Amino acid sequence: MKDENFLVTGGAGFIGSHLVDRLIREKPRNLVVVDNFFLGKTANLKEAKKAFPELKVYNQDVCNQKEMKKIIEDNRIRVIFDLAVLPLPMSLVQPRLTFEKNVEMTLSMCELLREDAYEKLIHFSSSEVYGSALYDPMDEKHHLGSTTPYAASKAASDLLVQSYGSTYGTYATIVRPFNNYGPRQNDESYAGIIPITIKRIAAGENPIIFGTGEQTRDYTYVTDTAEVTVNIYKNPKTRGKILNVGSGKETSILELVKLIVKHTDCKKPIRFENKRPGDVMRHVADISELKKYCDYSPKVELNEGVKRTVEWYLKKLKTNGGGVTDHEESK
Ligand SMILES: NC(=O)c1ccc[n+]([C@@H]2O[C@H](COP(=O)([O-])OP(=O)(O)OC[C@H]3O[C@@H](n4cnc5c(N)ncnc54)[C@H](O)[C@@H]3O)[C@@H](O)[C@H]2O)c1
Repeated sequence: MKDENFLVTGGAGFIGSHLVDRLIREKPRNLVVVDNFFLGKTANLKEAKKAFPELKVYNQDVCNQKEMKKIIEDNRIRVIFDLAVLPLPMSLVQPRLTFEKNVEMTLSMCELLREDAYEKLIHFSSSEVYGSALYDPMDEKHHLGSTTPYAASKAASDLLVQSYGSTYGTYATIVRPFNNYGPRQNDESYAGIIPITIKRIAAGENPIIFGTGEQTRDYTYVTDTAEVTVNIYKNPKTRGKILNVGSGKETSILELVKLIVKHTDCKKPIRFENKRPGDVMRHVADISELKKYCDYSPKVELNEGVKRTVEWYLKKLKTNGGGVTDHEESK
């Protein structure tokens, strides 16, 4: 991968910025981020800029195919990691916009691939496309039972990517992560449960769980996802495949929140509120397909990852101050 030219859409976001950090270690010739900064932050790329001052960051809507083509040509991009997205909670209040934009972004990437503007697409899906587990662990053949407009937009995008592969012979791989967590996850509008809970506790409020807390997820520390994404890219046999990325371990939201409570030393009781619409009840990944192609063993287990994440947010809050938002669970 040395001297390769990469572009990361959504590269100023949570997973995207960690992927950029990881790609820098591959010594690329050109490394480009395209993000419209809807949720992305310049601060997420601070370490990347230090390690790789040549990093180019474009404030650009990925839907604009003409401008994207120019960026790709100007930087001789051969490979695109496609992570830009509007988040799940937004789809609950603005379903049409979220669905249209998410699909349009993917369409723009597919069209440019069809036109040979670049060569390889590594597209990010989401385990949300499956809906709640009909069996466990969930493999890539699990029924697509999207329960939110966000999940439907992700499923539609995956089908688009696959259809371009079968119709036009384009090179694409679909990475399908289960829940990610770690530093830099958005903690403002449409934030995820981990940053929200840490912020509540830091502000002296009770941690909140929507529903009973029995709903389960499969958590991966974000740097493990970045690592395996690069490994997936490096193996050409992953072309045309959909690959789950997860830990294979099921954790309830109650267990997760209890871990945050432990690492923040919170004394306030957990408050339970109404279940969120469309909330998936069970999620756990079967990662045997991934292991056929990559030597994958997640390095950061949940307790250690939550500890690191709590430390990171508390340090950030101390430096910046910070309030609590009302939204929950971004994916
Ligand atoms: N975080 C998770 O737990 C999780 C789990 C499964 C899958 N995923 C997938 O991983 C990818 C990255 O997710 P994330 O959690 O880092 O999200 P994120 O919200 O942190 O990052 C997405 C980025 O996309 C940018 N963006 C949105 N619309 C754009 C547009 N029109 N043009 C350019 N940029 C735009 C945002 O500003 C943001 O920086 C997504 O495809 C998501 O579906 C995430």
